[in-house]
Amino acid sequence: MKTIGILTSGGDAPGMNAAIRSIVRYATQCCGMTVYGVQKGYRGLIEGMFVELKSESVSNIIQQGGTILRSARCPEFKDPKVREGAIKNMRAKGIEGLVVIGGDGSFMGALKLSEQGMPTIGIPGTIDNDIAYTDYTLGFDTACNTVLDAISKIRDTMSSHERVCIIEVMGNKCGDLALYSGLGGGVEVIILPEQKTSVKQIVDKLNKSRNTGKLSGIIVLAEGAGCAEELEKKLSSKTTIVVRSTVLGHIQRGGSPSMQDRLLGTKFGVHAVQLLQKGIGNRIVGIRKNKIFDMDVVEGLAVKSKFDKTLYNVVKNISG
Ligand code: ADP
Ligand code: F6P
Repeated sequence: MKTIGILTSGGDAPGMNAAIRSIVRYATQCCGMTVYGVQKGYRGLIEGMFVELKSESVSNIIQQGGTILRSARCPEFKDPKVREGAIKNMRAKGIEGLVVIGGDGSFMGALKLSEQGMPTIGIPGTIDNDIAYTDYTLGFDTACNTVLDAISKIRDTMSSHERVCIIEVMGNKCGDLALYSGLGGGVEVIILPEQKTSVKQIVDKLNKSRNTGKLSGIIVLAEGAGCAEELEKKLSSKTTIVVRSTVLGHIQRGGSPSMQDRLLGTKFGVHAVQLLQKGIGNRIVGIRKNKIFDMDVVEGLAVKSKFDKTLYNVVKNISG
């Protein structure tokens, strides 16, 4: 392939810019390719929002959160006729292959484009870590660190006032962000969509903690498992402990990417270009046991949830 495109789609994630930079630099400097950035995800493909990206276009972006290409959700893309128009626009620019950075929804769009004759490579980019074929998605590590920072700050004030705070974190239907940040933050209770936890179990745990002299605490609640405000009301009605709640929200999607996400974005980007260079499409890139690999999109999307129950039990058993 001599000309390729890149787009970012769905929820943005820190590290997307590192991947864009790596794709552009590797494709132009090592493969002699021309690269077009497509703005606003699939919407840009439909509306022909293409910008040529040269080596200098991606200077000074590796440290930036968000995506310089912008992102969007574009429901019309589910219509095959709309995708035909998108492919026509790409062909008019000479684009022979496309890298899609996004979540599993974006991968569905990429799959459909491949089926309609435009080779695509998917890079998993989402803070949710909810794509089971890969150990980690781009942005997850940074989001975990953002949550950790919040846990530490909230813990300061909870311990001064001997209170308990429920911190609601993102993750969509996946509990990984809550599990990993809860582990790193040494929290007292983690509530995940993958693991039922009753109000009674939480109250018992908080009381047990109090009886051992621990007067404050943090509960990390994954958004897929419930709502912080409601849980605050339920806990407050069942205990004398003063409970507060905080929804971290979109702060988790922003910020300068961690070293881990810069590394992952860079490696994913190079791997994606290498596939397109060989004329290979309809693949998604991932990392397993610290090794970058690729697999068929349909097979990748069929991989079942990777909930780490052993890790969950460790966190539960060693919490104070
Ligand atoms: P994410 O990629 O983060 O999972 P979404 O699920 O919102 O985010 O999907 C992003 C975009 O991918 C959608 O707005 C749509 O443009 C495209 N998309 C999702 N599902 C499909 C599908 N079945 N067919 C074609 N395009 C899809
Ligand atoms: O998929 C990423 C994510 O941030 C989820 O964790 C969250 O549920 C959702 O997107 C929020 O979407 P929006 O940006 O549309 O509010």
